[in-house]
Amino acid sequence: MIFGAILAGGVGSRMNIADMPKQFLELGDKPIIIHTLEKFILCNKIDKIFIGVHPSWLFHMQDLIEKHIKVRKEDIYVVAGGADRNSTIMNIVADIEAKFGEAEDNYIITHDSVRPFVTSRILEDNIEAVIKYDACDTVVGAIDTIVVSGDGKVISDIPDRRKMYQGQTPQSFKINLLKKLYGELTEEEKEILTDACKMGVVRNTPVHLVEGEISNIKITTVSDYKIAKAMVGGNLID
Ligand code: CTP
Repeated sequence: MIFGAILAGGVGSRMNIADMPKQFLELGDKPIIIHTLEKFILCNKIDKIFIGVHPSWLFHMQDLIEKHIKVRKEDIYVVAGGADRNSTIMNIVADIEAKFGEAEDNYIITHDSVRPFVTSRILEDNIEAVIKYDACDTVVGAIDTIVVSGDGKVISDIPDRRKMYQGQTPQSFKINLLKKLYGELTEEEKEILTDACKMGVVRNTPVHLVEGEISNIKITTVSDYKIAKAMVGGNLID
């Protein structure tokens, strides 16, 4: 089966403009997370959709689904997120297996709740790639030159831009592979490896690239939120 996993366990500390996590802020006529959820609902190759939500916001999320979602409600499950992003993913994996059991052909398409502009094409390319390769990451080629500095004062390297990409989500995995990778991490590695795909990279497990879109932005700061509002037809200087 193909499982969507929308990650909404964070509190949005870098945004900090409202008394709620950024994924619940309004974007046009509905909250950010509802835009994201709708993209998953529209993809009929995704069998079930799990949303990992901060424990204090579980009821709010259920209310939003009741209010905004009219179709495939029976395919949506809301579960408690974890203390960090990977823990939210693993909480979802545990709930998937509690409800649907373990299977070699179970795959998970993990996605930031705060990337509401993901497209059907990106979701479908993730599904195709994860079935073929077991793990994939969504990326766009770096546009700006990437400058490396070890001390934040002086440039230590300027890598060849043609080999540089910016990571987005979805990040997709065969569930059995993801469990193996996560299970092998030390507690120290769990703290450092905040990016799920990096678990594959450090264990020499190939993670294939799927082409993202520049428009698949992550809403992290107030400026990103303004850009997102402009993208749905609002005013950039609101
Ligand atoms: N996330 C999650 N569980 C966590 C932490 C983050 O599911 N324990 C999710 C966020 O809700 C978000 C995505 O991971 O959809 C990307 O994380 P980020 O933008 O860093 O979100 P926050 O952690 O909420 O933001 P901040 O770092 O500013 O506090």
